[in-house]
Amino acid sequence: MKKLLVTERLYLRPFELGDEGILTALNADPEVVRYTGDGSFRDAAHAHEVLTQVILPQYAWGMGRWAVHLKADDTFIGWCGLKKHPDGKIDLGYRFFVEYWGKGYATESAKAVMDYGFQVLSLPEIEATADAGNKASIHVLEKLGMLPNGTGYEHGAAVIYFIKTRP
Ligand SMILES: CC(C)(COP(=O)(O)OP(=O)(O)OC[C@H]1O[C@@H](n2cnc3c(N)ncnc32)[C@H](O)[C@@H]1OP(=O)(O)O)[C@@H](O)C(=O)NCCC(=O)NCCS
Repeated sequence: MKKLLVTERLYLRPFELGDEGILTALNADPEVVRYTGDGSFRDAAHAHEVLTQVILPQYAWGMGRWAVHLKADDTFIGWCGLKKHPDGKIDLGYRFFVEYWGKGYATESAKAVMDYGFQVLSLPEIEATADAGNKASIHVLEKLGMLPNGTGYEHGAAVIYFIKTRP
């Protein structure tokens, strides 16, 4: 297995064919997708479509959503990564199973991802969007040194935009 990034407690690897099941399990919890603008997968074909048409193509840019595992026992706990949008914007995103919330894993993985984006990919800036009610995510973005960059309305919800320029 290719470990793309390794942190104190975690490692991040690219998703691959066969990971449809863990992606489905993650999105199956309404708490996990409460603020994410998507939802659970309709069926196995939907999970396969998202994996092959949304997640895997991003790797051609050297970025994407990466599976996050605990170093201690290889448990898959969620994902974190960068996504290139058609307008060129690079966005940071993350989501984890509820049982792993509140342990600093989002901050730890996202910090490594942002360092990778700035230092390896030489990105000039990284953006993020958080539902205005998603206090945990907003707090993570603040801990990463991201700054508020306006507000908007997406998927029927008020959102706050964040941005960080290359240090
Ligand atoms: C958002 C999410 C990724 C955070 O993951 P996490 O591993 O729990 O985050 P961390 O532990 O690194 O940091 C969370 C911080 O928010 C704080 N926090 C948690 N809930 C909070 C709340 N309701 N209000 C204010 N702060 C809160 C925590 O105390 C912690 O801060 P601290 O380290 O200063 O104590 C996780 O809740 C998740 O997967 N949510 C579902 C998916 C999602 O919403 N993704 C983001 C879409 S923009």
